[in-house]
Amino acid sequence: MQCIFIVTIISLHLTTADHYKTKPNFVKTCQISDPDFDDCSKEAVQLLFNALGPGLPEIDLPPLDPLNIPKIRILQGDGPVNVNAALDDVIVSGFGKTEVLLSQVDSKSYDFYTKVRVPKMRIEGTYDLKGKILLIPLVGRGRCWFEPSNMTIDIVSDVKLYKKDGFTFFNVTNVHVKYNIGGLKLYMHNLFDGISSLEESTNAYLNANWRPVSDSLRPILTKTIENILIEFMQQIFHNLPASFMIEDLKK
Ligand SMILES: *[C@@H]1O[C@H](CO)[C@@H](O)[C@H](O)[C@H]1NC(C)=O
Ligand SMILES: *[C@@H]1O[C@H](CO)[C@@H](O)[C@H](O)[C@H]1NC(C)=O
Repeated sequence: MQCIFIVTIISLHLTTADHYKTKPNFVKTCQISDPDFDDCSKEAVQLLFNALGPGLPEIDLPPLDPLNIPKIRILQGDGPVNVNAALDDVIVSGFGKTEVLLSQVDSKSYDFYTKVRVPKMRIEGTYDLKGKILLIPLVGRGRCWFEPSNMTIDIVSDVKLYKKDGFTFFNVTNVHVKYNIGGLKLYMHNLFDGISSLEESTNAYLNANWRPVSDSLRPILTKTIENILIEFMQQIFHNLPASFMIEDLKK
């Protein structure tokens, strides 16, 4: 069965900023030729995540925690999830507690491999939904929240190097994500336009079956995380010279 889905995040409003000319204090410099590079780089990426929490206004980067997303539009046909949905005024909290588990950089291509853990995340917003999840027809609009716990995310980022103003930068061209979660709680208010017995029993059913629910939402959530990460990574790395992070870049 073919599964078609589209996730559109309507702009985080990132703009062009003036890049860092000197190394900011949240950047730790590593040598890729160092046998302990992975340890150094894990620490460096952790410092970067810590700085991203409150945001970096000097390069026009909004806070990562809480993260405000004006709109997420989801269209997915066939399969166990068949959804036409929009999430508006989305607030994602929890990325500020991201724990970096592993960071590796390919010594030839400079592609990044990063593994992180987000202990608790909460996604809140206003949903408008018409579709099926686990073959249950769902219709409604209202407030909703989702709380995935112990999320581990494997991130592979394709990068290219380029020169600007005499500095070398990383151009993050693609981000591929795989994730696992240890639990999921959720509530959608006003399901079935407020028939409260149906709303409560359906929410209870979705929570009791969180594993298949989460599996069926995987393509949507994967794409959403990829879209957020690529916007943030591009904004950081177009503004942060690569040699501030890896001093011994190949010429
Ligand atoms: C979180 O998940 C990882 C692997 O997915 C597991 O090894 C770890 O024990 C879990 N931690 C908690 C606190 O549940
Ligand atoms: C980054 O890579 C993309 C895709 O290959 C390309 O279209 C874009 O021009 C590159 N940007 C810079 C600044 O090199």
